[in-house]
Amino acid sequence: MAVTKDQVLARLAAVPAPDGVPVTQSGTLSDIVVTDGKVFFSLTVDAAEVQRWEPVRKRVEDAVRTMPGVQSALVALTAERKPGAQSARAPAERAPGPRAAQHAQQIGVPGVEAIIAVASGKGGVGKSTTAVNLALGLSALGMKVGILDADIYGPSLPKLLAIKEKPQTIGGTRLKPITRYGLTAMSIGFLIDEETPMVWRGPMVISALTQMLREVEWGKLDVMVVDMPPGTGDAQLTMAQQVPLKGAVIVSTPQDLALIDARRGIAMFRKVNVPVLGIVENMSTFICPNCGTRSDIFGHGGARHEAERLGVPFLGEVPLAMTIRETSDAGLPVVATEPDGPHGTAYRAIAQKVREQIGAAARPAPRIVIEA
Ligand SMILES: Nc1ncnc2c1ncn2[C@@H]1O[C@H](COP(=O)(O)OP(=O)(O)OP(=O)(O)O)[C@@H](O)[C@H]1O
Ligand SMILES: [Mg+2]
Repeated sequence: MAVTKDQVLARLAAVPAPDGVPVTQSGTLSDIVVTDGKVFFSLTVDAAEVQRWEPVRKRVEDAVRTMPGVQSALVALTAERKPGAQSARAPAERAPGPRAAQHAQQIGVPGVEAIIAVASGKGGVGKSTTAVNLALGLSALGMKVGILDADIYGPSLPKLLAIKEKPQTIGGTRLKPITRYGLTAMSIGFLIDEETPMVWRGPMVISALTQMLREVEWGKLDVMVVDMPPGTGDAQLTMAQQVPLKGAVIVSTPQDLALIDARRGIAMFRKVNVPVLGIVENMSTFICPNCGTRSDIFGHGGARHEAERLGVPFLGEVPLAMTIRETSDAGLPVVATEPDGPHGTAYRAIAQKVREQIGAAARPAPRIVIEA
C-alpha cells in the first residue's frame, strides 16, 4: 500500500523539533510530495539554526523512510536568511574577497579531488550531452570520474546513461551511486519518476543538491563532472559558493544569442571567483549524414572568437550530428560506444584540454574537508 501525505504528517507529529514542539508545529515544513512511495519535503529554518536542525532533519528522514509503504525519503534542510543578516554560507553575496579567504568557507567532498561544472547561460545547448561525453573522455584518459546531475527540474542522466535502477542505501542514510560505462553517477532522476511533478522551491533545490554531493558514497574520484541546469540562478550560485569548484566548462552554440547567455554564465563564475576552464562550441557544423556536406547552421567559430575576446581557453568544437543525438537519446553516449569515431575523438580531445586546464587551475589554498 502506497503511503499518503496524511500518514507522513501523522508520523512527523511524533518527531520533536529542537525546542521540543512537534516538527509539524514548528512552522518549518514545506509541502510534502509523495509519489509511488517516494517522499520529499524540506524544512526551512533560520540560517543561524542549521546546526541545531541537522540532527532533526536526519531523524525526520529516518522516521519517514522506515514507514511501511515508503521506498525512499529525501528531506532537505533549507537555510533561510533573515533580511539584513550576514550568512556564513554565502560568501559571494558579500564583497568578493581573495580566493583563499572565500575558499576557506567552502567544504570539499571527501575523496573527490576536483569538481568541475559544465554550464551555459541558456537551455538546450548541449550541456548534458557534453557533460556525459566529457566525463567519459576524462575516464578514457585513465581518470576516475563521477558525474552529478545538478538539474533537479529536468534531470538528464537517467536517459543519457540509460539508468532505470534505483540507488541502494548504505546503512539507511547514505546513497550508493550507480556505475555506468565506468562513471560513478548520481541524479535526482534516479530517485523519482519522470512524471513526478517537481514542486521544489528554489531553496529546496539547493538543499537537494547539497545532499546529493554530501550524502552519496562517491568514493575516491579524480574528478567529478557536474551537469548544471540552464541559467545563472540559485543552483549555479550554490554550487559556486558551497562547493570548491576547480572550474567551469561553458557550453555554447555558435549563435550570437547563445553566446550572450554564455557570456552571462562566464560572468557569474568570475564573480564568485571560479576559474572558467574554457568554452566548448557545440552544434558547431552540421555534417549531412547522407551526403557528408558540411553546413554551418548556427554559424561557426563564434565560440572560439568569443573565447579569444574574453581571454578564456577554447576547448574545441563538436559538430551538430544525428549520431550524437541518437546515441544520447538511446543512453549509448558516443564516447563510450564509438570512442575512435569522429565525434568520440572530438570529445576526447576536449577532455584532454579540460584535464590540462584542471591541472592549471590547481589551487594552493587549503581546503576544509568535513567527513560526513
Ligand atoms: N552536437 C550535437 N549534435 C546533435 N544533437 C545534439 C548535440 N548536442 C546535443 N544535442 C541534442 O540536443 C538536445 C539538447 O541537448 P542537451 O540535453 O545535452 O542540452 P542541455 O543544454 O543539457 O539542455 P537543458 O538546458 O535542457 O539541460 C538533445 O536532444 C541532444 O541529444
Ligand atoms: Mg541538461
